[in-house]
Amino acid sequence: MSRGPLLFKDIDTPGLAGLEVYRGLGGYEALAEVLAKKSPDDCIEVVKASGLRGRGGAGFPTGLKWSFVPKDTPKPKYLVCNADESEPGTFKDRELIEKNPHLLIEGMILAARAIGANVGYVYLRGEFAWIQRILDRAIAEATAAGLLGPSVAGTDFRLDLYTHLGAGAYICGEETALLSSLEGYRGQPRLKPPFPAVEGLYRCPTIVNNVETLMNVPGILANGAAWYRQWGTEKSPGTKIFSVSGPVKRPGNYELPLGVPLSTLLNEHCGGMRDGFRVKAVIPGGSSVPPLPASLLDTALDFESLNAAGTYLGSGGVIVLDDRTCIVDALWNITRFYRHESCGKCTPCREGTYWMAEVLERLERGEGRDSDIALLDEVADNILGKSFCPLGDAAAMPVMGAIRHFREEFEYHVTHRRCRVNRRREELDALRSAPAAAEVTA
Ligand SMILES: Cc1cc2nc3c(=O)[nH]c(=O)nc-3n(C[C@H](O)[C@H](O)[C@H](O)COP(=O)(O)O)c2cc1C
Repeated sequence: MSRGPLLFKDIDTPGLAGLEVYRGLGGYEALAEVLAKKSPDDCIEVVKASGLRGRGGAGFPTGLKWSFVPKDTPKPKYLVCNADESEPGTFKDRELIEKNPHLLIEGMILAARAIGANVGYVYLRGEFAWIQRILDRAIAEATAAGLLGPSVAGTDFRLDLYTHLGAGAYICGEETALLSSLEGYRGQPRLKPPFPAVEGLYRCPTIVNNVETLMNVPGILANGAAWYRQWGTEKSPGTKIFSVSGPVKRPGNYELPLGVPLSTLLNEHCGGMRDGFRVKAVIPGGSSVPPLPASLLDTALDFESLNAAGTYLGSGGVIVLDDRTCIVDALWNITRFYRHESCGKCTPCREGTYWMAEVLERLERGEGRDSDIALLDEVADNILGKSFCPLGDAAAMPVMGAIRHFREEFEYHVTHRRCRVNRRREELDALRSAPAAAEVTA
């Protein structure tokens, strides 16, 4: 059964990670023709026209980013694939590379050629050691077949690809921290501008793209922008892989056209909630975006609709929280992650994540003060837009969004001096296997 129309079309084919099976399904078929018939600028124009937007979180238009690489520089240029995938709730890049590494290699060949890079790196999070081995094997196969190396597919274009394992730090997914880490320095963000497209790896022009972004490129360049636009919406074309976690019947990765309603993803594709559970909130784009309350489940999953609903598509990590989840507790958990992962370089993020975690802990313990909700909001507001890199925003936005949608739950913690949901946790745990929906009441 196909799990998606594009990147996931053949994903479960046995042996797809090997060159022979990948080629048997049409892989690398259009590569030589694209390289022969389309100039690098043509390729950038097609990707621009396709409307492909970065799948790493920010949604920046890919073709436009590529066009920022200076053409008249004597410096070498680099392509870096961001396979750090550290955003909690996100696990799509892992499956994509594990099962279809040659699609990434083909995408990197085309992207590198478009920007004029002869060297590419894939930066993988430290825990992805086994994925690195799969990718290294595929790179060796592609090199032996003349698809990488001094004469890519018989052309005069050279490309060498290398993998690099990080050491398991969330900040190293931020593109400039990633570049510092790749250079052997401590993974901390750099000031922007200059942006990596102008001054990136070793101070040379560098394009950093997410795994899923790069995997969309072969299809676009082989079939054209209009073909790609058959999926998705006008401003958010294409498909997106959503990583769904939480108490749905079938959690996992789903590739669907952008613009699909969240309720369709959860009910039709994930089979709805497991027996005894009800949706309370959904965090639609990885832990760094504001949650959506259950009343907004019909929101379309595309960049614009989610922004209009006060949240973001982010990385597509869809975290479902059920009605036995205490929002304050969930937020405390998320905030502890950001406190731990803050690189410490800037004060708002280093201090702010610490204080948010402190206040959330005392609220959850029933020791909250009357002024705590306002204090929490104020600390988050003092991080948002004021930190050195967007990690601070990632920590502040869920807090502010949760207060906006679930203020009465925060107030309950202060006025009743206890957690409403956790008080009944044992009782609710007993309901876990009950067939009827469990209602959480005060
Ligand atoms: C704290 C932080 C962590 C990030 N982690 C990742 C990550 O794991 N993978 C990723 O592709 N992008 C991540 N990003 C986004 C990257 O900085 C960058 O925007 C992205 O790799 C660009 O690729 P794209 O244009 O293809 O989306 C992160 C950003 C921040 C601020």
